[in-house]
Amino acid sequence: MKAVILTAGQGTRLRPVTLTMPKSLVPVANRWLIAYAIDVLKLAGLNDIGIVVNSLNSPIVSLLRNGKSLGVNIEYIVQENQKGLAHAIGLCKSFVGDEPFTVFLGDNIFQDRMTELLTSFADSGAEAKIVLGEVLDPTRFGIAEIEQGRIVRVVEKPQDPPSNLAITGVYLFRKSVFDAISRIKPSGRNELEITDAIQVLIGDGHPVASYELDGWWIDAGKPDAIIMANQLVLEELPYTPAPENGGQVEGNSEVSHRVLIGKNSRVIDSVIRGPVIIGEDTVICNSYVGPYTALGDNVVVEGSEIEASIVMKNCEIRNIQGRIDRSLLADNARVTSAPHMPVAHRFVLAENSYVQF
Ligand code: G1P
Repeated sequence: MKAVILTAGQGTRLRPVTLTMPKSLVPVANRWLIAYAIDVLKLAGLNDIGIVVNSLNSPIVSLLRNGKSLGVNIEYIVQENQKGLAHAIGLCKSFVGDEPFTVFLGDNIFQDRMTELLTSFADSGAEAKIVLGEVLDPTRFGIAEIEQGRIVRVVEKPQDPPSNLAITGVYLFRKSVFDAISRIKPSGRNELEITDAIQVLIGDGHPVASYELDGWWIDAGKPDAIIMANQLVLEELPYTPAPENGGQVEGNSEVSHRVLIGKNSRVIDSVIRGPVIIGEDTVICNSYVGPYTALGDNVVVEGSEIEASIVMKNCEIRNIQGRIDRSLLADNARVTSAPHMPVAHRFVLAENSYVQF
C-alpha cells in the first residue's frame, strides 16, 4: 500500500508565516508538522510516500529530499494550480498505480496512530475508508452520515449538517477513486472536492466504511490551532528529570522536569517550567519560559517572560514587559524594547500580521 501527503495548499489562514514557509513545515514541538504524518505512516510500514507540492522549488523538497534521513522513500508530485484536494489526488494516479493507498492532509495532526486501520485496509472489503472525528462546528468540514456502520452520504461544509462527524483528512482509497474524481465538477469554491468524489463512490454502490478517531485531532491551519497542537504534543513528552545546575543551566536558575535543552543552548539566571522544548544554540537569560513553549535553534530570550508559544529559529526576544503568551514567531522575528528615546512601539509587520497588547 502506498501513501500520499498533500501539502500544496496556500496556507492563507496562517499568513504571514506561510508567506515564506509551507504550512507542513511549521514546527510543532520543534519538528515539522509533516513529520508527524510521516511517523504514523512509517509505524504502519508505509514507507513509499508521494508528497504533493506546489513546485519542485518548495522547501519541502530541499529539506525532506528522498526521505532517506526520515527512513522513508519520498517521491514528489507537482500540483501547479491549486484546484482542490480531488485534483491533487488525481495527479497521484501513476504514483499509486494499482495499489490501494492512503491520503493524509499535510496540515492535520492526530494523537491516534491508526496502525491497525492502515495495515488492514488492503485486505478489507471496503472500497474506501474515511477517518472521522466529532467536531463542534460541522459547517466548517466535510461531514459524513452513517447508517449501520456504513457511510451513506458525505457532504462538504453543509449548511444543515446531517451529523457532527467530520472528515478529518485521512482517507483510504483504491484505484476506483480516480474514475470517481474524473466525474466530479468544481464546487461552489471552485475546487474539485474529494468529498464529492467519495459521494460518487457511494452513489455507484461501493462500500465506503468509516473509522472514528481516538484522541485529539487538530486541523492546524490557523495560528491558534498550531499553538494548540504544540501544547498537545508537548503534553505527551515523556518524563525527564529536572537538569542539575551546572552544565547548560547556570547561575540562579530553576529548571523543572520535562524540559528538553538542545546542544550548546544555555539557561542563565532563568526559570523554566516544563513541558518546554529548546533547540540548539539558544540562550535564555534572566527570563521566564513557561509551559507549552517551543523555542527553535539560535533563539535569544533575554529579560522577558513567555509561555504557550512557538518561537522559530533565529528569533530574538529582549526586555519585553509583561508576559508573551500564545504567540507564534516565525524565523528571524525580533521582539525587543525600544533601544532609544522616545519610548514607543515600532512595528515592521508582514501582510496579515497582528499584534495585541
Ligand atoms: C478539507 C476538506 C474537508 C475536511 C477538512 C479537514 O477542508 O475539504 O472535507 O473536513 O479538509 O481538515 P478545507 O481545509 O479545504 O476547508
